[in-house]
Amino acid sequence: MTDTITLTRPDDWHLHLRDGAMLDAVTPDTAADFGRALIMPNLVPPVVTGADAAAYRDRIMAAIPAGADFTPMMTLYLTEGTDPDDLVAAAKSGLITAVKLYPAGATTNSASGVRDIDKVMPVLEAMAEADVPLCVHGEVTDPEIDIFDREAVFIDRVLDPLRTRLPQLRVVMEHVTTSDGVEYVKGGGDSIAATLTTHHLFINRNHILAGGIRPHYYCLPVAKRESHRRALLTAAMSGDASFFLGTDSAPHLDQAKLAPCGCAGIYTAPNTLACLAQIFEAEGALDRLNGFVAVHGAAFYGVPVNGGTVTLRRETDAQPVPEARATPEGALTVFDPMVPIHWTVVG
Ligand code: NCD
Ligand code: ZN
Repeated sequence: MTDTITLTRPDDWHLHLRDGAMLDAVTPDTAADFGRALIMPNLVPPVVTGADAAAYRDRIMAAIPAGADFTPMMTLYLTEGTDPDDLVAAAKSGLITAVKLYPAGATTNSASGVRDIDKVMPVLEAMAEADVPLCVHGEVTDPEIDIFDREAVFIDRVLDPLRTRLPQLRVVMEHVTTSDGVEYVKGGGDSIAATLTTHHLFINRNHILAGGIRPHYYCLPVAKRESHRRALLTAAMSGDASFFLGTDSAPHLDQAKLAPCGCAGIYTAPNTLACLAQIFEAEGALDRLNGFVAVHGAAFYGVPVNGGTVTLRRETDAQPVPEARATPEGALTVFDPMVPIHWTVVG
């Protein structure tokens, strides 16, 4: 049995680092294991302009521990007021890597998102022309649509029509949670890819709701039934370069999660690699892990793979779930995959 595995230093293509004290508390966890991460722009207020992204990037750089080999890749938050010239200039200068589309009201801090896709067509056309990828939170917000169906309906109502209108726009369907999403991306050619999170490879909706309500498993898009989880796992382990890791590690203080109306988001940065090694090994696909965490995403975004490596070791004893992080404002619970994890990052 393999006792150690050395990976190319991986990338996290979907990460929330927040700001202020939370930024300081969580950045070291990602910087320890990852070479780069695509930083989500859903701050309050959001990161909308090139100047916002430059200032946020400086704040992130200040939170990276000395000596860590970590580069934040920035995104802009698409609004109906986004200036295409500012966006394209930010992309051309290398300041931003992608732009994020949140349907207004779809998830945490999405109130400034897009209500009417027609209003952002000129921006999307400029992005297609300049080859700036669009990262999509793929859920409709129509209250008539059941929350478990919102991803599949988004594909039919928004994503597919958009890609028909603008075939040259490159799109990443973020945190895909359904077999519908997997099938759409598989059949979609080179202009579409998908990120998969760590937690959606482990949990289904029973983890949230069966035997008691567990707010720490609540995230958006919400975890679906087991057959969908299996489809995500199959995609992650298939070796298909259209699928790559975006953890969607999304820290919220425990007091915000454990509330009558708790926040969506799961904090997976500290144990993501250990969890992934465990589940890829259990499925007999450890040889596919490097592609998923370090190669496919870099290829889609047109950057070389990272120079360094990260090594994990398989311990005889199951390893404890990392301790909750202490922040000045309260505790931050780390994702518990609810299965024994024997792998640990050793260097
Ligand atoms: C994210 C957050 O907290 O910012 N929450 C989540 O449940 N994933 C937003 C998002 O990516 O939807
Ligand atoms: Zn997210």
